[in-house]
Amino acid sequence: MSILVTGGAGYIGSHTCLELLNVGYEIVVIDNLSNSKLEALKRIFELTKKDFKFYQADLLDKMTLEQVFLENNIEAVIHFAGLKSVGESIEIPLHYYHNNITGTLVLCQTMRKYGVKKMVFSSSANVYGIPKNVPVTEDSPLKPTNPYGRTKLMIEEILSDLYISDNNWSIALLRYFNPIGAHESGRIGEDPNDIPNNLIPYINQVAIGIRDKLSVFGKDYDTHDGTGVRDYIHVVDLAKGHLKALEMIIPTTGIDAFNLGTGTGYSVLELIKSYENATSKKIPYTFTHRRPGDVDKSYADITKSNKMLGWKALKSLEDMCYDSWRWQKNNPNGYNEKKEKN
Ligand code: NAD
Ligand code: UFG
Repeated sequence: MSILVTGGAGYIGSHTCLELLNVGYEIVVIDNLSNSKLEALKRIFELTKKDFKFYQADLLDKMTLEQVFLENNIEAVIHFAGLKSVGESIEIPLHYYHNNITGTLVLCQTMRKYGVKKMVFSSSANVYGIPKNVPVTEDSPLKPTNPYGRTKLMIEEILSDLYISDNNWSIALLRYFNPIGAHESGRIGEDPNDIPNNLIPYINQVAIGIRDKLSVFGKDYDTHDGTGVRDYIHVVDLAKGHLKALEMIIPTTGIDAFNLGTGTGYSVLELIKSYENATSKKIPYTFTHRRPGDVDKSYADITKSNKMLGWKALKSLEDMCYDSWRWQKNNPNGYNEKKEKN
């Protein structure tokens, strides 16, 4: 029996594939490589010495998806494949709705056809929108403020309806907070295509000298130092959360949502300090205006995932920063041989 990993060549998917293989799961990966590189999969093999099947295909390609289920004995699916940029989702919403939602519909239809009814789904803390209270619990109001977040919420609702229609499904909706860091080998990590939108990839590029300085978006937020507070979680801790979710859904049925974070919020300035401490690199920055849509603070209540998944994030903010830096230092051009400065 195999676990099908959609989007397995991506940032979180590649780290999860590695953990799955390391504990003895057989996996099959499907990815269209729209936001990832084949090299990530080669490195997973290099690190684990375990072979796995890879289909370079789009989830919207029904025929190939059918072929995947026909050719393999799939037990459960971890569904990472999706587009994830908030800003881009505002510019090209139809593309986001089509890719994320239609992709999931095609996947679910195919799963149902082949009697596979177990799924771990990559949702996002983005579904909470502007949190009324922190820490954010899973039963907080769901009010995403952008098309990307709405695709995640709509998929959560589709999966809930699917479960209502057929109680044999078993689904874990994992709401990630802010994944950062990289595998301790320094061989796999986050490799953004363009100018990074997210904080750590940007800081990495400042540290390596690709960019001159970081812009800190806003210093007048309602937080202890005026900069935005987030719940950063090490991608390896996050990957391990998927294994716990899988262990939970395989022998049961039902649908439930879980926050995956550390439960602690850090400000942008605290993150910069921690990165500097961990790496001995100076990160020059200036304050600029707020980024539209950003919230003051968002961090997880992790009581439910601790209890029900038996999972807890273990790595510290300094571990996250150091591992992010090691990946960047060892791979200045990401998975590319050479990358031009944008
Ligand atoms: P990523 O872009 O690195 O990985 C997603 C992968 O899916 C990529 O390899 C991409 O090529 C593939 N893909 C996209 N659309 C596809 C399609 N139609 N068919 C086949 N493959 C397709 O992103 P990530 O950071 O690893 O995120 C994984 C999942 O977690 C995404 O669904 C994302 O929305 C969600 N998520 C990410 C974050 C984050 O900050 N990284 C936070 C919350 C949720
Ligand atoms: N920030 C800066 N400068 C930058 C980039 C970010 O100051 O160059 C600040 C932001 O204003 C925010 C914090 O750093 O206060 C974190 O920003 P990120 O862009 O790294 O992360 P977000 O919390 O905005 O969003 C991320 C993902 C979303 C996901 C969300 C919750 O981009 O897709 O985490 O999981 F939904």
